[in-house]
Amino acid sequence: MTDDVQQSETQSGDPADRVKIFDTTLRDGEQSPGISLNAQEKLEIAQQLSRLNVDIIEAGFPITSPGDFEAVQMIARNVEGPVICALARTGFQDIDAAWNAIKDSERPRIHTFIATSDLHIERKLRTTREDVLGQAKAAVAHARQYTDDVEFSPEDGSRSDVDFMAEVVKAAIDEGATTINIPDTTGYAIPEEYAEILRGLYERVPDLHKVTLSTHCHQDLGLAVANSFAGVLAGARQVECAVNGIGERAGNASLEEFVMLLHTRRPAVGVWTGIKTRELSRTSRLVSRLTGYPVQPNKAIVGRNAFAHEAGIHQDGVLKERRTYEIMDAETVGLASNALVLGKHSGRHALKNALEELGYKIDGETLNQAFKRFKEIADRKKEVTAMDLEAIVSDELRDDTRAYSFDWFDLHTSSDGEPKAQVKVTKPDGEQVEGHGTGDGSIDAIFAAINDATGLTARLAEYRVEAVTSGQDAIGEVSVVIEVDGRMAAGQGVSTDTVQASGRAYARALTNVERRRGVVDEAEGAAASAAAPNHAVP
Ligand code: KIV
Ligand code: ZN
Repeated sequence: MTDDVQQSETQSGDPADRVKIFDTTLRDGEQSPGISLNAQEKLEIAQQLSRLNVDIIEAGFPITSPGDFEAVQMIARNVEGPVICALARTGFQDIDAAWNAIKDSERPRIHTFIATSDLHIERKLRTTREDVLGQAKAAVAHARQYTDDVEFSPEDGSRSDVDFMAEVVKAAIDEGATTINIPDTTGYAIPEEYAEILRGLYERVPDLHKVTLSTHCHQDLGLAVANSFAGVLAGARQVECAVNGIGERAGNASLEEFVMLLHTRRPAVGVWTGIKTRELSRTSRLVSRLTGYPVQPNKAIVGRNAFAHEAGIHQDGVLKERRTYEIMDAETVGLASNALVLGKHSGRHALKNALEELGYKIDGETLNQAFKRFKEIADRKKEVTAMDLEAIVSDELRDDTRAYSFDWFDLHTSSDGEPKAQVKVTKPDGEQVEGHGTGDGSIDAIFAAINDATGLTARLAEYRVEAVTSGQDAIGEVSVVIEVDGRMAAGQGVSTDTVQASGRAYARALTNVERRRGVVDEAEGAAASAAAPNHAVP
């Protein structure tokens, strides 16, 4: 018998049993190999995380690059609701950069960390336990000068000597840390062991009961959600996780899996989160779209097949009674929200209203552009669904200053059967340039023509096309990853025409490469002046 609980969209219950969701998609998630989001894309994800109602957004690691500093600052200034957190090592320069990036947020948090395992202390930090203890204390005290919301993590906690880790945790609490997070940095722990570490810390540090204990588990052995859950059973009330489970190496605990575990088995587990579960699917799609990281079809909760039934016996069972083979309702995670929302004759006002229902408040020129795209798509598609709108808007809402835009193309086949493309592209400085190209297929020819037009020698590393919704007239969403002079960047494009979507995706990836170059130059100045003179960001 399953616990199929009908719950309101935002859950409620005893505050002592509420598990805070600390989302690290934009920090640990963004450290995934090949992912590099620009500030605008990070802001778009942070706004969706706020709609999802996460408690804390770890927006980035500001000292690491001027681009990261700019993104965290933009999120701190523009995203309301969740606590906005920035990561810092124990050095004061790190902490100052973190503070400078988040200080305009209504609810800023500094998260500082240092490794406590002997392996890391001796081999990586090349220092002593005593020094680590001193650095932890000083860092928390320094961070507390700025904000009373300070989190401390003993990195590689699950492989640390518990007595020493307890000593460091106690010192951090004494200096004013309000959240203590125990990372299973290498994804090495097993659930009972991880829970035992947390229980051991509670025994050794009674004051741990006065602050929030947090989990941060990696997925190297596939146990990230299981370990996080074990941590919650041992008393943790904050779980660090990432949308689609992205993160360093094999990733972090998957936010959607952890949330739906608590939601679906609530009577058995007793604890709850404040997540608006109906936003889960949409959040997953956005993160996948902007990071260029596909979601595997059989991924729990948000995979394309998570609610699909193949075997006849299963289909028959579900038709008779859904709960025979389903423990959750697709509606609860927002997967069934693909109902028709607009028709071919819908006007600007209807589009604006539909977008507002989806949480997008747009006006002026952006609305005009979105309306133009909507009309193009509505002319070719019978039904324009919420998912289509989501794709159009996320394609249209990007900040396109300093962007390459894919304006026009022509394709034909030469007498020897080779595809030939001609394109017009506008460069970031506003100049429109033309290019010609040939290739193995139409898309290859278009990309060669864009390279010819822009004079950039981009190499295509990955290409993926997916239908946003089902049906022959579905909108195609193309994701590309390109490499220019050793820099990788992803781009996405949306259209009912795959060639058009591919050109847009390629142009956007070129923009992301260039923007990163531009951001480096521009933000360097901003970050340096934002940081105190003796604490410049490197
Ligand atoms: O995995 C880890 O140890 C981390 C810390 C910075 C919290 O990401
Ligand atoms: Zn991590």
